[in-house]
Amino acid sequence: MNRIEGRVKVTGLATYAAEYPAEGVAYAFAVQSRIAKGRIKRVDGGPALELPGVLAVLSCEDPPAMSEDADPELALFQRREVAYRGQIVAAVVADTYENARAAAAAVRVDYDPDDHDVTLSAGHPGLYKPDVVNPGFPTDVGKGDVEAGLAEAATTVEVTYETPVLHNNPMEPHAALAYWDAEGRLLVYDTAQGTSISRDLIATALGLPQEQVRVVARHVGGGFGSKGTTRPQAVLAALAARAVGRPVKIVLTRQQMFDVTGYRTPTIQRLRLGADAQGRLTALEHVAYGQSSTLIEFAEQTAVPGRVMYATPALRTTHRLVRLDVATPSWMRAPGECPGMYALESAMDELAYAAGLDPVELRIVNDAETEPGTGLPFSSRDLVGCLREGARRFGWERRDPAPGIRREGEWLVGTGVAASTYPARRMPCQAVATVLDDDFLIQVAAADIGTGARTALTRIAADTLEVAPERVHVELGDSDLPRAPVAGGSMGTASWGSAVVRACEELKRDGKQGRADTAEEIKGDAELARHAFGAQFAEVRVSSVTGEIRVARLLGVFAAGRIVDPVLARSQFIGGMTMGMGMALMEETLTDAEFGGFLHRDLAQYHVPVCADVRDVEAVWLDESDGELNPMGTKGIGEIGIVGTAAAIGNAVFHATGHRVRELPITPAKVL
Ligand code: MOS
Repeated sequence: MNRIEGRVKVTGLATYAAEYPAEGVAYAFAVQSRIAKGRIKRVDGGPALELPGVLAVLSCEDPPAMSEDADPELALFQRREVAYRGQIVAAVVADTYENARAAAAAVRVDYDPDDHDVTLSAGHPGLYKPDVVNPGFPTDVGKGDVEAGLAEAATTVEVTYETPVLHNNPMEPHAALAYWDAEGRLLVYDTAQGTSISRDLIATALGLPQEQVRVVARHVGGGFGSKGTTRPQAVLAALAARAVGRPVKIVLTRQQMFDVTGYRTPTIQRLRLGADAQGRLTALEHVAYGQSSTLIEFAEQTAVPGRVMYATPALRTTHRLVRLDVATPSWMRAPGECPGMYALESAMDELAYAAGLDPVELRIVNDAETEPGTGLPFSSRDLVGCLREGARRFGWERRDPAPGIRREGEWLVGTGVAASTYPARRMPCQAVATVLDDDFLIQVAAADIGTGARTALTRIAADTLEVAPERVHVELGDSDLPRAPVAGGSMGTASWGSAVVRACEELKRDGKQGRADTAEEIKGDAELARHAFGAQFAEVRVSSVTGEIRVARLLGVFAAGRIVDPVLARSQFIGGMTMGMGMALMEETLTDAEFGGFLHRDLAQYHVPVCADVRDVEAVWLDESDGELNPMGTKGIGEIGIVGTAAAIGNAVFHATGHRVRELPITPAKVL
């Protein structure tokens, strides 16, 4: 089955947020703080207002009315305090985008700067232990005596890994069009991973009843987490539309996206592992340091994979956070699990070398029968199957474990392995299924952020209704549709699909229409540990002359429940793995310690893999039948592809060169 919106997308007919036409539309352009901390003394919009086409200048000099309950990152122009460099401090509205942008440069902002602090370190005096980490996990989970486990171990590894600030770079920039419609409702076309939640946040920020706000996002050009929370452009478009009494459009520049759409927190991760003579873990400790802003406590759950992955009698996982003069971090594909598994799976590789064991076998002997952090049984877990199938396909048995000995001309060649994991959750969702003559209409406020959600939901509905997919029409991407959770946390298909199945079942009973709300059904989910697992294998070639690193092969094997659509699933897996390659070798946003903000602010500086970098990436999956999950038997697949990839590549670089790099990205300078 082809992707339903494939044709309109590749022919340019799919309409994205900034592309909707609107009568008398005006354009807004943001003015950003040039200091990292301090107070705005004065915003002088006078010179800007004299420029051609300028309609208004918004700033804290005349704060637009907003609710006190607004999310602090969305409470635009409400305070004179500056929390980070790049924060939106004013905006110009004009008749054209070019006029708005030119006038924004003429807005004069005077500051009273304070000393700022933008640097995360493991010795920072401001570090503290958050009460909970995202999305509500305890900060600490542990059991047994880690010190005793390390003391009795035959082999120990104590290592620190660091990951940099990383930025999502969806192809569609963050954009919005807002206006008040004829009925007095605020309509926002937004780049959103969830229109229900975006509607709630915009209504809260503006102090409007929810039913007076509608958010539409029929096509979204990628999000990866950066559109999972409402970003300032949506609120700015609404404030500007209210100020000038016209529809207002805003499109962030790529540079602005680095400042105001969130980022993956940098991490410092300390791991201590102990193993007995057979390689069985005697202790596992994972301490993760991350940062947040002074505005919001965003505590990423970096140390949680240790609670899931391996059997150990002694476990300690904990988090430390420091509030810096930086923008608030946000979600980036597999937040928590991705950087956490980079460190854990790299440390497991170091343990395998220290113990003289094969890294595939080390993981197999430490496979957990119950979830280590909770003792709960798994609904299903086939990490071992993924490792064995991956080893077979990859040709692992021919591998000589000795590092730094395979040479082809100037190239050093090595292979590495790492495990993957991601939780299989679902959230309450509503859906309506209606008979339309010979066809069926499925309505749910789901979001298709490029994943193929429409297609997956069409298949799920057609399966349940036992009709051809051509007779099913899925309507999504509109907050006026039945309430749905975000496309995030790899929960979209599981959450929306559950509601779609129930609505279709009800339709079959009723004959005309079925309505579903899974809130009660989800409460009945039994107490089980639900996760997808995988194994990733990488082959790298490292130039001994230039340090250039080429990924010759990547293979991912996943056990992720039932796969609804093989074409879409493969794209998700290899997309995640490609993003993991970027994390391993290229992606890094440097923070400007002197002035605050970020030094990398566009795609010329922030490097992501291009086609020439991606030689041979393959993803396969094991059939997994898990009846404890949801009516479809699916686990999420949007995020697990990026989990473990960077570790597999880093482990392969070690195998190639004999040199362990513990700070991402692994650039030529670090391996030479
Ligand atoms: Mo994704 S980081 O769950 O939007």
